Amino acid sequence: MAAACTGENGRMQPPVGPAAGDPAPPTLAALAKVAGDVSAFYEQHPYPPPVASLDPRSAGRAGPDRRRTDFHLLWPARSFRDDFNILIAGCGTAQAAKYAQRWPRARVTGIDVSAASIRHSAVLKRQHRLENLTLRELSVERTIELGQRFDLIVCTGVLHHLPNPDAGLSALREALEPDGAVHLMVYAPYGRAGVYLVQDYARRLGIGTSPREIRDLVESLFGLPQDHPLVPLLRNAPDFRNDAALADALLHPMDRPYSVPQLLDFLHRGGLCFSRWLRQAAYLPDCGTLASSPHAARLKKLPAEEQYAAAELFRGTMVRHSLVARRDDAPEEAQPIRFDGDDWFGYVPVRLPNTVSVQQRLPLGAACVLINQTHTYTDLILPLDAAGKDLFDAIDGSRSIGDIANGSHARACARTLFPKLWFYDQIVFDASSRRLD
Ligand SMILES: C[S@@+](CC[C@H](N)C(=O)[O-])C[C@H]1O[C@@H](n2cnc3c(N)ncnc32)[C@H](O)[C@@H]1O
Repeated sequence: MAAACTGENGRMQPPVGPAAGDPAPPTLAALAKVAGDVSAFYEQHPYPPPVASLDPRSAGRAGPDRRRTDFHLLWPARSFRDDFNILIAGCGTAQAAKYAQRWPRARVTGIDVSAASIRHSAVLKRQHRLENLTLRELSVERTIELGQRFDLIVCTGVLHHLPNPDAGLSALREALEPDGAVHLMVYAPYGRAGVYLVQDYARRLGIGTSPREIRDLVESLFGLPQDHPLVPLLRNAPDFRNDAALADALLHPMDRPYSVPQLLDFLHRGGLCFSRWLRQAAYLPDCGTLASSPHAARLKKLPAEEQYAAAELFRGTMVRHSLVARRDDAPEEAQPIRFDGDDWFGYVPVRLPNTVSVQQRLPLGAACVLINQTHTYTDLILPLDAAGKDLFDAIDGSRSIGDIANGSHARACARTLFPKLWFYDQIVFDASSRRLD
């Protein structure tokens, strides 16, 4: 596993992709300096850029349907509840407030090392009267000082900035309920190759994070060759839409990415096991161009973790990995959804938000095309024929697959359709009252 090391100017140097060898472990003094640099960076550049109030659309996204899909994505085999304990670790300026708004019956705690970020979160708490939100200036590594265990821990965009991410992950694991879930997001290396080139460029020039230096850097980026690997990210990625986001990406004192195998090792060392990708289609050989590749059969014979690693290499442009993990001693299975036997006809399919069914300009034989708008790869659209569309339209979030697909023809169609809908991130399953049909 490639680890971060200290560079000439004292800033941590990320490995340029997973090919970098294992350098000597950094000294404690170097680690402490990096932790200080990271927290000073976020003091000066709180992230995401602070907002005066929560987007009214996020209140609309806080409805019971959204909570139910979020819940069953994390815990498919459990009956829905919304009165649990949530920790937002490294909450930045608004994430904890958004969760408190989305889960009004939950107790939400937000921690961050940046006092500025906690102050901005406190403004949102007051403004939206979020009585269920507690905020603390505290590092992830010291989570245990909260003296609580959490059912859900959300830690997105944080661990890859820690001088010792393993210590951060272990601290979160210690504060997780035995049957709790962790939602993690860390950077991925191959899609961010351009970021690491420009980070190294800026480091060599000694570019700091003053407003003037950020402006000059932004201006210089207009001169990048059009085939520089950073250019597609500047054009497409939400992370690069403003100067603050650019500074966060290009001038960060510490940023190390994880390839799929590195990420799975990281989880394993932290006493966690992989449950699912938040959006899984891009990683599966059942979806998109991989499903019709001449290698499809070979890919499907590989163990799941090898399939994910191959998909990351084949796609080549993933910039982050978002996943759900559980404790490795959890009482429940990490991923209970299975499509062998007939048990799964008792699952209740629930549609995911951000999905649309398009009925114009259809491919031959299709009655609709399903799109998950959070997918960034265009091959992950799912055309359905008329029989498939009828079954899909019958999903109401309360009937099981067996109830929806009665009759032998519908049942045969359901057998291929529902696994596909799940692979393609169109639905999650409420498998809490599985029954045989
Ligand atoms: C890129 S921002 C992500 C914010 C938020 N999680 C989100 O997704 O919007 C990273 C955040 O992690 C915080 N952070 C960095 N190191 C930390 C640490 N050791 N403990 C707690 N927070 C930390 C930073 O202050 C910053 O607010």
